[in-house]
Amino acid sequence: MKLNPFSTESVLPEYSKSYWLDSAPPRSFPPLKEDLEVDYAIVGAGITGVTLAYLLTAEGHRVALLDAHEILSGTTGHTTAKVTVQHDLIYRELIDNFGVDQAALYYKANREALEFMRRTAAELPGRCDWQEEDAYLYAQTVKGAGQLQQEYEAYRQLGIPVEELDDVPLPFQAHKALRLAGQAQFHPMAYMNGLVERIVAAGGFIFGHTQIAEQVEEGERPVLSTMEGKRITCRHVISSSHYPFYDGLGLYFTRIHSERSYILAVKPSSEYPGGMYLSADEPKRSLRAVTIGGEPYVLIGGDTHKTGQGEQMDEHYRHLEQFARQTLGVESIAYRWSAQDWVTLDKLPYVGPLTSSHSNIWVATGFRKWGMTNGTAAALLLRDQLLGRPNPYGELVTPSRFKAVPGLQTLITENADVAKHLIKGKLEAGSREADQLGLDEGGVVQVDGKRAGAYKDPQGNLYVVDTTCTHLGCEVNWNKGERSWDCPCHGSRFDYKGEVLEGPASKPLKRIEV
Ligand code: FES
Repeated sequence: MKLNPFSTESVLPEYSKSYWLDSAPPRSFPPLKEDLEVDYAIVGAGITGVTLAYLLTAEGHRVALLDAHEILSGTTGHTTAKVTVQHDLIYRELIDNFGVDQAALYYKANREALEFMRRTAAELPGRCDWQEEDAYLYAQTVKGAGQLQQEYEAYRQLGIPVEELDDVPLPFQAHKALRLAGQAQFHPMAYMNGLVERIVAAGGFIFGHTQIAEQVEEGERPVLSTMEGKRITCRHVISSSHYPFYDGLGLYFTRIHSERSYILAVKPSSEYPGGMYLSADEPKRSLRAVTIGGEPYVLIGGDTHKTGQGEQMDEHYRHLEQFARQTLGVESIAYRWSAQDWVTLDKLPYVGPLTSSHSNIWVATGFRKWGMTNGTAAALLLRDQLLGRPNPYGELVTPSRFKAVPGLQTLITENADVAKHLIKGKLEAGSREADQLGLDEGGVVQVDGKRAGAYKDPQGNLYVVDTTCTHLGCEVNWNKGERSWDCPCHGSRFDYKGEVLEGPASKPLKRIEV
């Protein structure tokens, strides 16, 4: 639809759908139907799991890659697909918290991941739409410009080749930017699908729709079980499922939290100058070009918030649409989608043994929206650790690290937030009956005087669920933007029928018959 540039009428698509998944859907794999013995069992088929499976099968190892849903349908299929070491404002903070040497290691690990992806993409069909681009962090406020100045000094301390610009090549006003040359953007599903074909060709096993139970039989040869009772015996278990499917007394639910962010594929009414941009100011705004159906579009992302918390969640898409109108102009919007990311207490990923007492159960999580390079770096590190090779990055991201500042402060704040939402949810009751909902409307209702959640689909079918999250008992909230139930405590998400979309919960919400 072509929009009058002066119109304020929303042209948002009604439903979420990722352009990446729509234009290059992942291959579908059947569930595991029989017991299996492998060297490495990898749980979670996003960028980390797929890259690791690719690396291990390429060296002749027997690998099973398992996912509770269709492979690659999680965060990897919903990224902005910027391949860059410019991870928002981070290097100043890393230097302050960990010192120059550790901050430099973070940069190097991500730089190596970028180079690995560049080489790999060049070998895959169509080069995965790989395009070299500059990355920019830009500021529109005095505060943002001050933060950029500090970040610039951090780049210089670390020897990162950066350029400071007062004249920012954006078609809207910005005070200042930091430019990193030699970064890239690509089609993430073209890349991932290419790796999947290589895993299969090398004899790797891939299973979709295979949920792994939360318990692992630990030992020299750990055993995983699927919800259907099939057993996978292996030498090493690797959890690359964002939230670790097995906690193993690692207390991950106290150490990571999830955030959601939003993306629109906008056909602008003005010319986009190229480059990958991210604002230093809040609310965050991310921009990059993409070609859809031969036409130039811009992916506009941002409006991050903690999962299950905040205002009516379809409003986030409207905020991005408003930003697009004010900056580039909007002819049409082809896609909208959202993504979930995990953040650790100190913002560095957790990659390595699940706890200090585990030697054959491994985890990779906490990529803080920068999963393209962080997820690839995690796979490269795990490959080396699993095969007993030296790698300089293990200590930096080991999940067993503990640093009092900022870890302890954040630990207290995060867990106070969980407690607040646990209590708040229990006190909130619905004021309506389920059948008072309109078509395509969901929300908290009362059933027999008790809190419940209901959604009435466009055909008038009613789906009522118990809103108590099956993870640790917080009350889930209705996400109008995605028609899902989202938990404000640790980020589990359920579809309107109550089926699990994202963990840590592994069991569906209880259905209520009305
Ligand atoms: Fe932990 Fe819901 S995700 S209580």
